Amino acid sequence: MSVTQVRLNLLPMSAAPSPTTATPAPETLLLGQILDFTSDPFEGAPQDSARHLSRGGIVIRGGKIIEIGPAARLIETHGTARRVDYGAALLLPGFVDAHAHYPQTGIIASWGKRLIDWLEGYTFPEESRFGDPVYAATIAGRYLDLVIAHGTTTVATFCTSHPASVTAMFQAAQARGMAVVAGKVGMDRNAPDALKDSPERAYDESKALLKRWHKQGRSRYAITPRFTPTSSEAQLEAMGALWAEHPDCAMQTHLSEQVEEIAWVKELCPTAEDYLATYDKHGLIGPGALFGHAIHLTPRERARLAESGSAVIHCPTSNTFIGSGVFDAAGLAAEGIQVGLATDTGGGSSFSMLRTMGAAYEISQLNGAVLHPAHLLWLATAGSARALRMEAEVGTLAPGSAADIIALDLASTPAIAQRAARARDIWEALFPTMMMGDDRAVKAVWVGGVSRR
Ligand code: GUN
Ligand code: ZN
Repeated sequence: MSVTQVRLNLLPMSAAPSPTTATPAPETLLLGQILDFTSDPFEGAPQDSARHLSRGGIVIRGGKIIEIGPAARLIETHGTARRVDYGAALLLPGFVDAHAHYPQTGIIASWGKRLIDWLEGYTFPEESRFGDPVYAATIAGRYLDLVIAHGTTTVATFCTSHPASVTAMFQAAQARGMAVVAGKVGMDRNAPDALKDSPERAYDESKALLKRWHKQGRSRYAITPRFTPTSSEAQLEAMGALWAEHPDCAMQTHLSEQVEEIAWVKELCPTAEDYLATYDKHGLIGPGALFGHAIHLTPRERARLAESGSAVIHCPTSNTFIGSGVFDAAGLAAEGIQVGLATDTGGGSSFSMLRTMGAAYEISQLNGAVLHPAHLLWLATAGSARALRMEAEVGTLAPGSAADIIALDLASTPAIAQRAARARDIWEALFPTMMMGDDRAVKAVWVGGVSRR
């Protein structure tokens, strides 16, 4: 995807990529440096958790990764493959953004408010426009082109409460061959009428969308109650019932993002033990549950998140932008809680998982824990994929995975290049790009074996 194409897609009728250009070649061999995790860096020495090939290759066939290894061997054994040589660029799995709001693309970087005012002042008015399928399709296409340009190949995104917003996202994802997790937002209180549904409508509309899209090609459905302040008990119960009927879907929501929000939940649910209990009561917890933010947790909530196998999703640029607080990535991971990483576009101030990794590093410094580049890369790839229960398909370069691969230029600007030139190993070479890189570092993006940038 060139910059010109991204610009073109800002036009009202975002052009979906033509299917004729999307036919994968029989076999392709990508060449470059490669970093490939062999273990979870939170469970051992992070610097030893990945294999580095200074000259490696990845063989792609039928949209999947077939083989990975030293370049010289693969050139010999796959002599007829179409070869694409990225030189010193680093081949990685495409980034996995585990929490975003695509409908907030147009209001990203809106000034001056904290969560509740930000939702009421910027978010809800913008989301109210997504009953219009043409507008929804325009923003869905624009959003996915932007994330691809930033090296992200899978997102878990909230839509709005309008079914048209969900259809638009899955159509845009399928046109680009992307594995996307998405769902209709349920919200039946404390919201403008244009966005409010009801427990029954949230159940019926979510169920119809789930039946239409879940596991159709690479699409995955997420049951999506927005958060307790905007979902009544009856709606949370209906969402819990739907998830119990379709447990292989994801469930995404928000948890303990800001102190004012937590106080509001206490007012709305005075008998609940804590915020997490308002979801737990209705079965909205467990493997496949994705709790965005999860900053101000009690010890009981942390223990319950760990034992239930739920995931918390770190949204560092959002947590600083909206002033939410300091997420405890290292501590939560050490307690056995699954952690994913996300932009939270547009509460987050970026579409870039590079920028998000940089922000995660800085937040962790504030918390007194130094994250290694391996931790950051893991969170942005395999960690998020595992939280989404999609680690067999995305987030790694293991044979059998989808060929969602990016090539990162580790010297994409003069400032980064002069720093990377002093690197003594691949982690030191990669870290300046995590801290200072942007879409200029993303040299190539392959999605399902098709070149998209
Ligand atoms: N809590 C409920 N809805 C939202 C949202 O759209 N963004 C963020 N950051 N937090 C939320
Ligand atoms: Zn969110």
